[in-house]
Amino acid sequence: MRVLLTGGAGYIGSHTALTLLEAGHDVVVLDDFSNSRRESLRRVEQLTGRGVQVIVADLADRAAADAALQDADFDAVVHLAGLKAVGESVAQPARYYRTNLVSTLNLLDIMRDKGVDRLVFSSSATVYGDPQTPRIAEDHPVGLGLTNPYGWSKAMNEQIIRDVQRAWPQLQTVLLRYFNPVGAHPSGRIGEDPAGIPNNLMPFVAQVAVGRREKLAVFGDGYATPDGTGVRDYIHVMDLAEGHVAALERLSPGVEVYNLGSGAGASVLDVVRAFSAASGRDIPYELIAPREGDVATSVADPAKANRELGWRTTRSLDDACRDAWAWQSQNPRGFNTQT
Ligand code: UFG
Repeated sequence: MRVLLTGGAGYIGSHTALTLLEAGHDVVVLDDFSNSRRESLRRVEQLTGRGVQVIVADLADRAAADAALQDADFDAVVHLAGLKAVGESVAQPARYYRTNLVSTLNLLDIMRDKGVDRLVFSSSATVYGDPQTPRIAEDHPVGLGLTNPYGWSKAMNEQIIRDVQRAWPQLQTVLLRYFNPVGAHPSGRIGEDPAGIPNNLMPFVAQVAVGRREKLAVFGDGYATPDGTGVRDYIHVMDLAEGHVAALERLSPGVEVYNLGSGAGASVLDVVRAFSAASGRDIPYELIAPREGDVATSVADPAKANRELGWRTTRSLDDACRDAWAWQSQNPRGFNTQT
């Protein structure tokens, strides 16, 4: 297939581009480079020995998206483009809704105009809210108790895609609900390069290990979890990327939903220990108050994806820490500077 990968220069996008190319697909990346770097795609090209067509456009700008995609040739779309910082979404709700919803609406219109009817959409476990269940399956209610516009924008995008599919029955869609993507390509050549202070745990820990930040703040140790810190289902970004390829290759008319997670939970302190072992560095930390909106536990039941996509995670948290460390230690300033 020739796949249009929106947001393809970002963290998940670059690993998905690489995995699609290695599976024999062609890749066209559409990205506005507002929170990503061209260098990530140059490295994907080096690693795979294949070329990536790059289209620079903001999908939320209808005229620009129309012009950019008018002559583009693709059979399927993997739609990752969007804003993703939870805290920022609370401060800038209109920007988050405008970007994350309008880009999907524009994309669906353009797909219909061009007769492209295959779509894999990047959703999030955040749509489950605070599920209060040890392992979350896809039939868990969506949209209850969401605490931020980012999460709402994912839930609303899911609904938009469902409604558009009902009016366009040939449309083949999969909604992938990611748990917590971590790690990097094992070469250490591509990885997560957050702008500013990382919001997420693993990139923050990696920056502490490399000496870019003094210590980690652990958000709360009073949760009802084995060590009191928050438990998440960390999924290696290469496993996540393979989940996209599996979903793309098994599309059929309708809307299917799959959790992409490992099914295993790890606490904040488990991650600190694993990263410290992988890097051989101390990770100083202090316990502070919980972060608003965080849940105690979020762990996938990945049985449906295992069964129907023939996909499962094959990489451990230790593998993810090793690969994230390879990336961080070889690229202490991300794609900006190499040492
Ligand atoms: N944490 C810390 N210190 C930090 C950062 C995080 O203790 O500096 C803790 C959090 O409290 C949480 C765990 O580490 O217990 C993981 O936090 P992340 O920010 O890495 O991930 P979240 O689970 O909060 O968020 C992720 C995605 C979101 C998505 C959400 C859905 O980043 O996009 O999962 O559950 F909305």
